[in-house]
Amino acid sequence: MTLNQNRNYSDVTAMADVAFSYAPAKIILGGEHAVVYGQSALALAIDRGVRVAVSRVSHANGPILRAINLGFVGEVRPDPQGQGPKVLREALSKLRELIGADAQDLLITVDSDVPVGCGLGSSAALSVALLRGIHRFFGRNLSKENEAELALDLEKIFHGNPSGIDHTVISAGGLICYKRSEQKLLIDHISPGRKLKFAIGMAGQHAGTARAVSALKERSRRHPDIYGRIFSTIGDVVEQMKFCVQEGKLAALGELMDVNQGLLNSLGVSTPKLEALCSIARERGALGAKLTGAGGGGAVIALVDDDPQYIVEAFQAAGYMAFATELEKV
Ligand code: PMV
Repeated sequence: MTLNQNRNYSDVTAMADVAFSYAPAKIILGGEHAVVYGQSALALAIDRGVRVAVSRVSHANGPILRAINLGFVGEVRPDPQGQGPKVLREALSKLRELIGADAQDLLITVDSDVPVGCGLGSSAALSVALLRGIHRFFGRNLSKENEAELALDLEKIFHGNPSGIDHTVISAGGLICYKRSEQKLLIDHISPGRKLKFAIGMAGQHAGTARAVSALKERSRRHPDIYGRIFSTIGDVVEQMKFCVQEGKLAALGELMDVNQGLLNSLGVSTPKLEALCSIARERGALGAKLTGAGGGGAVIALVDDDPQYIVEAFQAAGYMAFATELEKV
């Protein structure tokens, strides 16, 4: 069984027996980690995502989450000692707290084609899809502002203290430049001058975003000036990237992705497998390649000028799971 991939989920009316929703996954084109320190980052929603169906069951003491495919198959309840991954049980408890008592009689079926724990925003996509599905089920209005606020509360369960870039781009869709400082949040919507196509290669699950972010924080505390300069250089790279995206200058964008990757490596968040994936992509003619997300495992994105398939095949021939992707079609 899969949730219907072709259905337009936005057409479901209030208080239906079943409400469907969808949220896309994302990739970070540049600026991860530095974004936590107030620098700009570029992120885009991609053509894969999480689908949710919400219906009612009685006396469930839920909400019950039934995963058709979420990195695992099975049932999860918000029970501290119950079955299913702990983080999902905690997320369901949080969801019940955010939605109210009504939520405990819900059965939520989830289907996803987003690899979990690989920097593709699977938890933020799940958070946004859950909120959309539940609000739609109850016929409640969910403004973009509210959606982003509630999704951040859920993201905190998965990621500790996230910068907010994942759930923001997933909620907004398209391609954004995101910058958060203590004083303000800047979100710029960007129209790419040319189509952006990527091959994605998977180096396996990473050890968790919260852990990668806090380990980097420790290192940067020991060498604040040096790390501070690397973060601000990444910020400069991202500003140039933004211009290249808008102007459709893909070759220059690829070069900047390579520079960003070098800087991420200097921050200690790359791995031999991620470096190997970047090398394979560059040798096969990718315009540029870098890790995306927290690193320490996860995924590499390779920007291509034409068909990403030959790089996908090169990744697969070297033993890595891989797929082609592009900006989400809306
Ligand atoms: O959750 P991930 O792997 O997509 O990483 C998010 C990006 C980071 O900058 C590493 C963390 C954050 O909160 O911005």
